Amino acid sequence: MNLMLFGAPGAGKGTQAKFLIEKYDIPQISTGDILRAAIADKTEMGMEAKKFMDEGQLVPDSTIIGIIKDRLAEDDCKKGFILDGFPRTLPQAEALNALMNDMGISLDKVISLNVPDELIVERITGRRTSKVTGKIYHMKFNPPTDEKEEDLIQRADDTEETVTKRLSAYHDQTAPLIDFYTNMGVIVELDGTKDVSEVTADMFTAIEK
Ligand code: AP5
Repeated sequence: MNLMLFGAPGAGKGTQAKFLIEKYDIPQISTGDILRAAIADKTEMGMEAKKFMDEGQLVPDSTIIGIIKDRLAEDDCKKGFILDGFPRTLPQAEALNALMNDMGISLDKVISLNVPDELIVERITGRRTSKVTGKIYHMKFNPPTDEKEEDLIQRADDTEETVTKRLSAYHDQTAPLIDFYTNMGVIVELDGTKDVSEVTADMFTAIEK
C-alpha cells in the first residue's frame, strides 16, 4: 500500500497518518518530521533547512528529493509507506514518479484533506505535540487528558505570522499538484473539516474502494 496524504499546513495529515500506520502497519514518511529531527541533531542539512522553515518557506527541492530517495530505499518501505508533506512542488512530484518507476512501484491513493484557510490558522496555533508520546493534540478540538503540561511542545513555525506564509507557499506551489494527481487518476478529495473520526472513516472508505 503506497499512500500519500496531501493538504495545506494543519489540514490533518499527521493526525490521520497515525490511523493509517495502525491499520496497515506501514511507515509514515513525513519530510517535516525528518527536517525537524535534523534540526534537533544540528546537522548541516538541518541548519540550512531551518532558515527556510522559520520563514514559512519551502526547503529547496534538491534537499527534499535527496531525503526521500534515501528514505524510500530503506527496508521498512518495501511493504508500503505513507507520504506526509511530500511532494510539495511539481519538480518533487515528478522526481517521485521517476523514483517509484525505477523501483517498479506506483501510488495507490492520494488522500487530499480539504480545509479552508480560516480554520487552518486556528488549528495550527492551537496545536501541541507530546514530546514523550509524539501524539498530536489541539487545545480546543482535541485537548490532552493524560499528558503533563511540561511535556507538550509548540512547533517553532506554528505562529500566526508564519502560518500565513506557509499557507501562501501552499497555494502558490503545492495546491497545483491536485491537478497533477487528478490527471494520474489517483486522488480522492475529502472534507477535512469533519471530526477526526469521520475524516478517518471517509479515508478508509476511499482507500478500500
Ligand atoms: P510539515 O511538518 O510537513 O508541516 P505542514 O505541511 O505545514 O503540515 P502540518 O504538520 O503543520 O499539519 P498537518 O496537516 O500534519 O496537521 P495536524 O494533523 O498536525 O512542514 C513544515 C515545514 O517543513 C514546511 O513549512 C517547509 O518549510 C518544510 N518542508 C516539509 N516538507 C517539505 C517539502 N516536501 N518540500 C519543501 N519543504 C518542506 O493537525 C493540525 C492541528 O489540527 C492539530 O492540533 C490537530 O489536533 C488538529 N486537527 C487535525 N484534524 C482535525 C479535525 N478533523 N478536526 C479538528 N482538529 C483537527
